[in-house]
Amino acid sequence: MSKQEVIICNNLCNDLEKVISSHKYDKLFILTDNNTYRNCLPVIENISAIKNATHITIGVEDINKTLETLSSVWLKLSNSGATRHSLMINLGGGMVTDLGGFAAATFKRGIPFINIPTTLLSMVDAAVGGKTGINFNGLKNEIGAFAPASEVIIDSEFLKTLDNENIMSGYAEMLKHGLISNQENWKELIKFDFCNDINYDLLQQMIAKSVAIKEKVVEQDPCEKGIRKSLNLGHTIGHALESFSLQSEHPSLHGYAVAWGLVSELYLSHIKSGFPKDILWKTTTFIKEHYGKLHFSCKDYEKLYEFMTHDKKNESSDSINFTLLSNIGEININQTVSKEEIFESLDFYCETMG
Ligand code: GLY
Repeated sequence: MSKQEVIICNNLCNDLEKVISSHKYDKLFILTDNNTYRNCLPVIENISAIKNATHITIGVEDINKTLETLSSVWLKLSNSGATRHSLMINLGGGMVTDLGGFAAATFKRGIPFINIPTTLLSMVDAAVGGKTGINFNGLKNEIGAFAPASEVIIDSEFLKTLDNENIMSGYAEMLKHGLISNQENWKELIKFDFCNDINYDLLQQMIAKSVAIKEKVVEQDPCEKGIRKSLNLGHTIGHALESFSLQSEHPSLHGYAVAWGLVSELYLSHIKSGFPKDILWKTTTFIKEHYGKLHFSCKDYEKLYEFMTHDKKNESSDSINFTLLSNIGEININQTVSKEEIFESLDFYCETMG
């Protein structure tokens, strides 16, 4: 898999103009969703190349991450005369970069694409690292391909229009990156001030560090055969909590489920791999204060366990695959955990987050 260039920019229009002109292409396409078409496209529409680009706009949110939407993007590319030498820009959150990346990676066996993520979650996770895809048959990201963008351009200016919930959702992935990297990074994340006005300059620097952590992991293992599984920390239980919450009246954002998943999985790390108790408590306290709690009880454990058995990261149908830590930055992939231990970690969640 080729390496993608990640550009943390100070002037989006200048950087994007340079990146576009470094490509040789015949036609330029720009994919947005209805929100980014209205709110983000105006930021770059004065660039001359963008003025001549063909716009493709899709519906917002995960509900539209479907084969039908994908097909509508392929159709527009095809009917607008896209060739293998065309270039696509995906401007949006994770849904746009995932679906747009997959559309580009498969159209005429692949055209180059540039990601411009507009949410914190997509800046630090979805747009970086080459995972593309759509939901299918009721399962998230069931169909997809590893296909890196040629460039990812990150401009934290977009964050100023995000609500607090979406900032916190992306921040959970940053917290995960801190936990798999080093103490210094984790400490900086734990003490970031969300009570007063957000310091966006500092946040931009922290985003750069967070993305660098992910890039380093992906470079070593682009197709998730080994160390890339460290990026799944918090996600085994997190995905189960996310699926559980999707069945409720108030579905939780992905990053919230990951943060809650981290609480249980750090507990598992403590009992199985000796993860230090004080770091477990400090991280749990931060999550409790900033993410609140998803309510469930021991009556829901079987249901949650059932969701975990369907996780596509499992290597066989009768075991659940975890990434655990012995300490910050000390990663143990492919850990199996008994059902009793998983239930104990859910007890820990319910007792400490309550
Ligand atoms: N979101 C985890 C990964 O990119 O591997």
